[in-house]
This record gives sequence, structure tokens and C-alpha cells, in this order.
Amino acid sequence: MEDKKTLFSAVQPSGTPTIGNYVGAINNFVKLQDEYNCIYSIADLHCLTVKQDPQKLRKATLELMALYIACGIDPEKCIMFIQSHVPEHAELTWVLNTITYPGELNRMTQFKDKSRSHADNVNMGLMDYPVLMASDILLYNTAVVPVGADQKQHIEITRDLAIRFNSRFGETFVVPEGVFPKYGAKIMSLQDATKKMSKSDENINSYISMYDDSDTIIRKFKRAVTDSDNKIVFDPENKAGISNLLTIYSVFAGKSIEDACKEFEGKGYGDFKLKVGEAVVEGLKPISEKREKLMQDKAYLDEIIVKGAENARRIAYKTIRKVYKKVGLYRP
Ligand code: TRP
Repeated sequence: MEDKKTLFSAVQPSGTPTIGNYVGAINNFVKLQDEYNCIYSIADLHCLTVKQDPQKLRKATLELMALYIACGIDPEKCIMFIQSHVPEHAELTWVLNTITYPGELNRMTQFKDKSRSHADNVNMGLMDYPVLMASDILLYNTAVVPVGADQKQHIEITRDLAIRFNSRFGETFVVPEGVFPKYGAKIMSLQDATKKMSKSDENINSYISMYDDSDTIIRKFKRAVTDSDNKIVFDPENKAGISNLLTIYSVFAGKSIEDACKEFEGKGYGDFKLKVGEAVVEGLKPISEKREKLMQDKAYLDEIIVKGAENARRIAYKTIRKVYKKVGLYRP
């Protein structure tokens, strides 16, 4: 166990997770848990950067923990914890803020996008989001960070901050690498395949929630936008809708893109969309059943949450002590 590299990742408990979160994140988390020392967090502090209904946020946090476990993340193998239970995340953010330049944060694509979509609430937390994320990662001597392609810039700034801190105060942080899944790093909207699938999309037909029932899933896939020719080939540039559906199918049916293309050669779009929907229904069924069962056993979930926070803190505490010492904070 000791000689494995440390892997860290997190998902925000905002709204219901989509199959995009599953394909781009949680499904990979499961696959990586034997190869690395895995630490998976629920980034509730990040959620506060946009307006949240407090009740819903609390519920979504517990649900996400249940989902992690239902998807196959093993609490015996991995550290799973809620970000706000480990105060070191906020503490390290403060220190890293003092070596971060406003210009670096101002030009982040996600900050610019969210400033537009949440124009009534452009707050300091939204701008500082990447520094909190850097803290998440750097607290745990993380070597690898599996994330969706949209998080590339955030990994870059994390590396920049680690290198900057190390060169200013001496070797402290491991400089992490991002790993991006080959296919499915980005599942696109079912209604506009040039946009990322997002749970905050106004059009509910554009995403499949991990909590959607079978009928809803099939209906949404039937309505998925495609294109006007009738060939099922993988070509994300020119056939974004079809390629997105092929990606989804390949993950849920457990087949390669190539095999999926062969399987649907000469088939019509209607038939294809139904098959994709059915594969997703089948794939999600055992997950939903397990998740619902876990949600009935709050005591068990809380036990994992408390234990996870203890284990995470043990590591985070050492890092923050080291950081405070390096920057010259006095301690008797
Ligand atoms: N920002 C990430 C996302 O939206 C979630 C996240 C928060 C994260 N902290 C992290 C991912 C640390 C990896 C590592 O997907």
C-alpha cells in the first residue's frame, strides 16, 4: 500500500450528478482504486461559490457519498470524505492565496463562463475556486488527478502554485499530473452536442441524471439531437451528436468505440438511440438499487463519512503544519 502513488479527485455535490459525471469521473475512480492510494472528496465548499439552497446542498452531499459507494468505490480501499470536514483545505487556500495573482484567476475559462451564467453573484469565492481546488490536491502529496477535460486549466494552476511555493519556501509539495480519460472525458449535451452535458442546463432533456428513472432515460435518448445524414460513425468534429451517443454507449455497454460502430453499421438513428438508452438503463439499474438501499442506512453512511474525515485529516494536518512552518508562522 505504501509504495503506491496517491491519487486525488473530487466531485461537487451540486444538484443531481449526470451520466457525464459518471463517465468522466466516478466510473474512472472505481477503475483506479487498486492501482493507487485513492482519496475521493465531495467538494461541498466549492459549491458555495454559486447560490445553493442549504437544505438541498446537505441532501445532495449525502446522496453523492451514497452514489460513490453504489458505483463501486470501496470505502475499505479508499479515503472518502467531505471537503468541509477537513479544515486544512480552507487553511491552505489562505496561504496559497498569498502567492496567487488576481490575473491568473481572472483569465480562467470556468471563472469567465460562470461569471456570465451567474452574473448576479460574481463573488470572491468563485474567482478563488481554483486555489481551493489546488489546496484539495496539494494537501495529500497527490501524484495524479483524474478529471474531466474542462478541469485542465485548474490542474495547470495547481502545478504552477506547487512549483512557485516550492521554489520560494523550499521543497514542500508534490507537483501533480492530471489524467484525462481518452473517451468520455467530456460527455456532451443531448440537445446541443457542442456544449458539455450539465446538470445546470435549463433544458432537462439535455442531460441524463444518475437518478432518472428508466422511462425518462429512454425518452431523453429518443429526443437526442443527431444530424441529417444517416451514418453511425465516430467523428466528433463533424458528427458531434452521434459521436457523443457512441461514447455513452461504449461506456455503458462495456464495448470499444470501434465495436460499437460495427454493431450499428447500416442501422437507423432511431434504432441506435433506443439501444443507447437501453444500455444506460441497464448500466444504471444496479447502481440505483444500491444507492437507494444505502440512503436508507444513514448510520452506515455517517460512519464512513466520519472515518473518511479522520483519515484525510491525518494527512492534511501534516501538510499544513509543514506549510505554516515554511512560511514562518510561529508555534510554541
Ligand atoms: N472542480 C472539479 C469539477 O468541477 C471538482 C473538484 C474540486 C476537484 N476539487 C477537486 C477535482 C480536486 C479534482 C481535484 O469537476
